[in-house]
Amino acid sequence: MARILVTSALPYANGRLHFGHLAGAYLPADIYTRFKKLQGEDVIHICGTDEHGAPITFAAKKEGVSPKQLVDKYYRIIYDSFERFGIKFDNFSRTSLPLHHRVSREFFLNLYQKGYIFDKETDQYYCETDRLFLPDRYIEGTCPYCGYEAARGDQCEECGRWLEPAMLLNPHCTLCGGTPVKRKTKHWYFDLPKFEDKLVEWLQSKEDWKPNVREFALGWIREGLVPRPITRDLDWGVTVPLDEAKGKVLYVWFDAPIGYVSSTMEWALKQGKHELWKDYWLDPQTKLIHFIGKDNIVFHAIIWPAILMGHGGFVLPDNIPANEYLLLGKGKFSTSRGTALWLDEYLDKYPADPLRYTLAINLPETGDTEFTWKLFIERNNELADVLGNFVHRTLMFVHRYMGGKVSTPVDMTGEDLTLLRKVEATRDEVANAIDRFQFKKGIKLIMELVREGNRYFDYQKPWVLRKEDMGRARAVMGVCTTLIANLSVLVAPYLPFTGERIKNMLNLPEYRWDDIGRIKVDTSVGEVQPLFQKLKPEDIP
Ligand code: MF3
Ligand code: ZN
Repeated sequence: MARILVTSALPYANGRLHFGHLAGAYLPADIYTRFKKLQGEDVIHICGTDEHGAPITFAAKKEGVSPKQLVDKYYRIIYDSFERFGIKFDNFSRTSLPLHHRVSREFFLNLYQKGYIFDKETDQYYCETDRLFLPDRYIEGTCPYCGYEAARGDQCEECGRWLEPAMLLNPHCTLCGGTPVKRKTKHWYFDLPKFEDKLVEWLQSKEDWKPNVREFALGWIREGLVPRPITRDLDWGVTVPLDEAKGKVLYVWFDAPIGYVSSTMEWALKQGKHELWKDYWLDPQTKLIHFIGKDNIVFHAIIWPAILMGHGGFVLPDNIPANEYLLLGKGKFSTSRGTALWLDEYLDKYPADPLRYTLAINLPETGDTEFTWKLFIERNNELADVLGNFVHRTLMFVHRYMGGKVSTPVDMTGEDLTLLRKVEATRDEVANAIDRFQFKKGIKLIMELVREGNRYFDYQKPWVLRKEDMGRARAVMGVCTTLIANLSVLVAPYLPFTGERIKNMLNLPEYRWDDIGRIKVDTSVGEVQPLFQKLKPEDIP
């Protein structure tokens, strides 16, 4: 069986996680991995924090702490938030670990020895006040392409173009606002144009990719590839393994994706199986799937594959299901007022699954989507009214009128069978959707099945049957509870905490994906607790 290696973009350890992060990469990656594990596939989900580069040193300066203090702090916060939100990783590493530094230097040397890396001396902007070269977000100016005035040294966030500091008009230092001067410095460049043909051929073969990802990458190549500087004059990062590169570190976007490899190695080491990572990275059968947000497409669909091609021996990405942006409420609530757009703040007030649901059903899969608290309340209440209500009314009925005893009926009528047959059909449609990275569609199909359950309940009128035909009332409740038991597995990739609670309420064993549709119940239901709390508009800040 081919292995599946799922990664999600390593978040910078320079701040807390917000809802946009979740919708871009982590929630879809988690749904996908949980689903594949339920299917019994050999799949691992690999991640970690991205702890280098200007994003870190810059934020550290702003918070008045050392880079090390900064990444230690945010590694913890990020790690805990993921855990509480139910984003499960097989390994969650850090790029500041010695193992990662070693592997990154090995990659550099490998490419260097093969002639894919060369050095060049150029004039770079230098701030005499702050006494440092100004790469990336240390420098801002006007974008030469679109005229955006706050374009950074590495990229214009307005038009998405890649930049180099020398291309900016009216450059200024973002630390002191001063005008920088030019100074000579030497840097090492990754010879990207050497991979152009191979990249185009490879991308063209990826016909099943999301068009936005594939076209974006091909369009980029059409505009012309240039060698990319992969070293920086910073004192925080992976040191360059060359004597003549004293005081230089690797560019964060060179070492970060290597974090996928080093994190997999760490995962193997933790199990005492030192070579196990090779089964994933070095086997051409492995399906390597990178979950990312759209701002990371160039790195994952062009540069990283080129690094892997240059190195040789490694599997290339099988798919890169990048999402667009989740827009956070367009001024409808403010980050500066500190409203809970932050995952850790959200989790201090509310359970994970209502937000997982809201985000899943609103994922920016093919275009940007918007998040608002109003939407969250609506989706939370929908979950309560549809899934929460179906489970609650069924189990309360069983508890109250049937002494808690319930089992899948032996003789079923046409309507019973119609409902339960829909379970198998839904299972396959959901599987199909998730396999195609259509996560929204999957959760909608599941909710449609639950709605069907509610309609069945209403139509059968067990509250009447209870007085006229207790046998039939039992059968109807058996059917509803059977559906609930199957739902506990079906919802698990999306709503893992809810799936687990249902499983416990019904005393169910561990099931697999393929069991869905065949799961039967014969159990007694104890005290019934509602799965979700409804919210009123005034409940939100
Ligand atoms: N830290 C980057 C970001 O937040 C993502 C790095 S992904 C990796 O945009 F491939 F480099 F790991
Ligand atoms: Zn300055």
